[in-house]
Amino acid sequence: MIKIITLFATIMLANMAHAQNFNMDYNPEMLIKYRQDFMTAVKGHNNAIKAIVNDAVPYHNHLSLHISSLEKMFDEIGSLFPEGSDFGETNAKDTIWTQADKFQQTITEAKQALATFKQVVEQGDKEKTSAAFKQFGRSSCGSCHKSFKKKQD
Ligand code: HEC
Repeated sequence: MIKIITLFATIMLANMAHAQNFNMDYNPEMLIKYRQDFMTAVKGHNNAIKAIVNDAVPYHNHLSLHISSLEKMFDEIGSLFPEGSDFGETNAKDTIWTQADKFQQTITEAKQALATFKQVVEQGDKEKTSAAFKQFGRSSCGSCHKSFKKKQD
């Protein structure tokens, strides 16, 4: 009998330890929705930059606003993927958690790509800016999505 009680106690303790590893102080569904809304905002700034550098809109004075917003948002990407937010209505791949170092590295590269683009913008050459914007897209959004985001149908 004592053996059985000990066994139960051990199993319960193990379960509790497991639950603690999973930080469930938040609602995963809300968190995933927030993360996707956050990314939609990133896309908004990115599309705005595209329209400006292509001279499709007369808002050249907004360029630094969108770039500095992206800088701030890129600083927070890492915090959008806590343990336990890997299931449900998400397109985040498991590799974010199983290859956490690679994910961190990809965030660092995305920030560097943004810094490079910003430098080119500051030089004020239109053609170079347009080319640098395409490069920025490939080595930030494109690169991270390729490794860490599932394709949506
Ligand atoms: C370091 C990785 C990383 C970078 C950099 C990144 N993204 Fe994402 N993005 C993701 C992941 C992961 C998801 C999937 C999130 C989910 O479904 O939970 C995502 C989702 C999205 C979505 C879909 C949102 C939705 O409603 O489901 C859009 C749009 C998006 N990203 C745009 C961008 C753009 C534009 C850039 C570049 C300016 C960018 N992202 C940079 C990782 C990244």
